This record gives sequence, structure tokens and C-alpha cells, in this order.
Amino acid sequence: MNEATSTGAGHGPVVPGGAGDGTRAVRAGLPEPVKHEPTLPGPVFAAHFHLPGDPTGPYTYGRDENPTWTLLERAIRELEAPGRDDAETLVFASGMAAISSVLFSQLRAGDAVVLPDDGYQALPLVGAQLEAYGIEVRTAPTGGDAQLEVLDGAKLLWIETPSNPGLDVCDVRRLAEAAHAQGALVAVDNTLATPLGQLPLELGADFSVASGTKQLTGHGDVLLGYVTGRKGEAMAAVRRWRKIAGAIPGPMEAWLAHRSIATLQLRVDRQNATALTLARALRERPEVSDLRYPGLPEDPSHKTASQQMRRYGCVVSFTLPSRARADRFLDALRLVDDATSFGGVRSTAERRGRWGGDAVPEGFVRFSVGAEDPADLVADVLRALDASAV
Ligand SMILES: Cc1ncc(COP(=O)(O)O)c(C=O)c1O
Repeated sequence: MNEATSTGAGHGPVVPGGAGDGTRAVRAGLPEPVKHEPTLPGPVFAAHFHLPGDPTGPYTYGRDENPTWTLLERAIRELEAPGRDDAETLVFASGMAAISSVLFSQLRAGDAVVLPDDGYQALPLVGAQLEAYGIEVRTAPTGGDAQLEVLDGAKLLWIETPSNPGLDVCDVRRLAEAAHAQGALVAVDNTLATPLGQLPLELGADFSVASGTKQLTGHGDVLLGYVTGRKGEAMAAVRRWRKIAGAIPGPMEAWLAHRSIATLQLRVDRQNATALTLARALRERPEVSDLRYPGLPEDPSHKTASQQMRRYGCVVSFTLPSRARADRFLDALRLVDDATSFGGVRSTAERRGRWGGDAVPEGFVRFSVGAEDPADLVADVLRALDASAV
């Protein structure tokens, strides 16, 4: 183990200010170069560290800290909070672990929290658990900034924009200002946008929270979550929650995630551009209704999205006339796996209604665009639409 990995010190040369997203992604979180050491040190597998004398950090016990997390946390912090030394990132075993760490560490019995009513389908389960602990849970849709209407007296506002799977967008600056004016904290689920698409802390949020399982890591082989926020009491409570719940990523997952972030800009640019191409092709199809992609100029989310996002994500959603038609369509696809999750380099799609957790029509399809050649992917989708007509 070299100095950088063993102590977490020795952050690599700072990428010049104004560097592009590709440059920042490939260098994110790298330690200071050490002769004969690899550019990105390998995963450190350790449950405990040598610790004679007083138990001082940085590395004592593997549930509290790990050098592989340290480098990954720096990488994500550099992308989520560029140029902000007052911010820190903590990584978790999954997106849900990260979400739970914020909600359960910040809220107490008697507090009120505002959640979206159209967010990720496990969020209502968290809401029910919060209610069981005596926390008042209010919900409102993401679109039209409707959460503003139920904000009065709340301790924390939870935003998911774009929302999954409906792809509605709310105005983060406007909501954050209103929440802060009455002393509420603001968390944004940044999973769908990724930090190259949207910077919640710059838009005024206190926490940017995400599932790194999706486009951040992008290969469908890692579960991961993170929270980025300003250093201070609130993040200390999030860290304490991680220690209590023990929802920590394995070193191998953390290392794979860091390696994957090097290609984030390449993947995001390719996948998101193809998502727009696919949305344009779907727009022409009579059997497709309620097509949503925030990057489409005519999408109801586009105006707000264009004010706060630099990239619009790789997910397109639409509705086919029936459940049977959607099933036949998914079955007929050759380049697209019928699978849940999103953000991977291999396209996936699913009939979202099969889970029962989202208020969507039976024929609703959530389509995650991968890194295939755009012409191949669009041709496969159009062919599958034709084949599913009969
Ligand atoms: C928007 C959003 N947030 C959070 C999560 C949860 O992430 P994970 O599956 O990594 O726990 C998901 C998972 O699909 C999601 O789509």
C-alpha cells in the first residue's frame, strides 16, 4: 500500500480550472502519482487496520473507513461539487442505503417531510417506515413544482428530478429557496441526471443523493449509493448513520465504480444523444403515446430541465396501447434486454407496471438507452414495434 492509499492523503494534481467533463472524469479522485504504483490503486480488502495505541483515524475499522472508498468519495465529490472544498461525499452499499441515511439521520418523531409521490418505487416504503417512527410524511407530484404547496413547516424536502419513471422535472432553485426560507433542508435524488447532467448543490440543495448503480457506474454490475453535502453537522449525522446501519460498499464494488467513472462522460454523451435520437423516432409512431424525454424541445419538462440540466439522461418513457402490446414489443427486441434498472451500456427496457409500485398505465415502457450504435438501436426498436403490432 502506498502513502496515498494507506492514509488517504496525497490527493493527485488538481485538474486545471475550466477543464472539460471528460478530463475531470478520467482524473477524478486519483491520488498523487507514486513511482511504481498504479494510477488507480487496487481495492483494499481489510476488515481492520493495524492500530496500536489510541484508536485514531483515518483507518481503524472497515465499517467506518476504507482507502478505496476515500478515493471514490473524492472522485464523486469532485464531480458533484466542483471546486468546493467545503463539500464531502460518503459512499454506501446502494442508492437506497444512501437515501435512508439522509432521511433517517435528519428526521425525528414529530418532524414533517415532503416526498415526491411519483419518485422511485421504494420511496413509499421508506415513507411508511418514517411514519411508523412518528414522522409526518406529505407527498406531492414532481411536475409543476407541486411540492411547494405542502412545504409549510416541513423539516426536509426530498426532490427527485427527473423523476423515475415518469421523467417529470421540477425547478430545484425555486423549491430550494422556498424550503430554506422556512428552515427546511433539501435533498435531491440525482440518479437519473448524474453529476454531469445536473449539480444539485449548485442549484441550492443541501444534499445530492444518488444510486451509483445506474449511469454513474454504467455496466450493470455494481450496486452503490452516495451522498454529497457540505461538511458539517448534517453530513456528520449521515456518516454516523452509515456506521450504525453498516450499509457500506465492498472494496471491490468501490474500486469498480471508480474505474467506471473514468468513462462517465463518454458513456453519458453517447447514451444521452442516442436517447434523443430514439425519442425523435418514437415521436413519429402512431402507437406510441405519452412519450417523455426531457431533452425533447416539446417535452413538458424541457423548459425547466434546460435551465438546470446540462444533459438530459438516457431514459425515455412511453406508453403502448396495451399490456399485451408492450409485452410483445419487449419480446421482439433483439438488442435490448428486458430488465429493470437503467443507465447501463447495454440497453434495457421494461413494462414498468409489472412491479405494481408506480402509477403508470399497463402499456408504459421505461427504456434505458445504452451505448449501441444509434442506427442499430433505432432500427431494432422500430422493427420490434412493427412486429408487435399483430
Ligand atoms: C431514482 C432512483 N433513486 C434510487 C434508487 C435506488 O438505488 P439502488 O437500487 O442502488 O438502491 C433507484 C433505483 O432504481 C432509482 O431509480
